[in-house]
Amino acid sequence: MPRNLLGIRHLANDDIEELLSISADFKLRINEGREVPNLSNQVVGMLFFENSTRTRVSFEQAAYYLKMKTANFSAGGSSMAKGETFRDTVLTLRYERLNGLVMRHRASGSAALAAKYFGGPVLNAGDGQHEHPTQALADALTILERKGDIKGLQVAIVGDVEHSRVARSNAWLLSKFGADIRYVGPRTLMPPHMQMLPGEVFYDLRAGIEGADVIICLRLQKERMADGMLSSISEYASMYQINRETLRWANRDCLVMHPGPINRGVEVDDVAADGERSVITNQIENGIFVRMAALYWVFTTEPKPVESPPPAKTRPTRSAKAPARTASKAKKAVAGGKKK
Ligand code: CP
Repeated sequence: MPRNLLGIRHLANDDIEELLSISADFKLRINEGREVPNLSNQVVGMLFFENSTRTRVSFEQAAYYLKMKTANFSAGGSSMAKGETFRDTVLTLRYERLNGLVMRHRASGSAALAAKYFGGPVLNAGDGQHEHPTQALADALTILERKGDIKGLQVAIVGDVEHSRVARSNAWLLSKFGADIRYVGPRTLMPPHMQMLPGEVFYDLRAGIEGADVIICLRLQKERMADGMLSSISEYASMYQINRETLRWANRDCLVMHPGPINRGVEVDDVAADGERSVITNQIENGIFVRMAALYWVFTTEPKPVESPPPAKTRPTRSAKAPARTASKAKKAVAGGKKK
């Protein structure tokens, strides 16, 4: 069976640790100008049915560092605009002999569907309100670099939880490793079935971020506000914005995170977004290394036996310097990287 990266929820802790270990190792190697594995015989399709800056560019950068080839695809410029179905599109890419897919799509569950049709590795680059696994990995790596451990951290996820795949992937990942999760925001921006997610809900910002070690600000998805979910954006900002004043309620060394894109002056002000507690640029940079790890992780497992007609299945080149795939804990890898 090919390995996919579709979400965090059903990923084993060992797999997450392995991905974070490989990420930290790749970061160290790139920063020191050392070799990384060469996957030059692999072609990955970049399917972005929805807009993206960070995820798309960092997957491109990750593929570049691993010497992979990329085949770009955007729905608007494809035969989908002529009525081709999602299934036929994915099958076409399979018969075009692509080795794997990175996919973003507005529909929750679309990455799993693509994996079913494609039959090779699929990496979810964000599917609807469901999951954004590589964002959660980038955020976890950033937290580990700053805090050394995830266990016991008070993590407040503030804002539009209802529409956020980032909130879900982060909540699954951080809670698996022992963080306490708080969701903070207005009732209308909380999912109807909050009991399905790990953690506690707060409707009051002060109560929700008091004593927090990490605040993950979420983008207020303004395009949804037409649905009457908020009375006004300025009222939302006055109640839930992370800024110089409200940050005083969190711990002094609290990290300010945001997956981007940011609505400055809405969910976060310039002082919080650009201040010394902000790790937003680190999240962006770490996005490259976790996506390198994710590509490496899905492409260096044994391919499934091929039925006709096959996608191109060439064994990747395994560098003698390939990262150890077992035992090494992410924390140790991050700590090792810090010492250098
Ligand atoms: N965080 C994130 O997914 O950003 P993009 O939409 O720019 O990829």
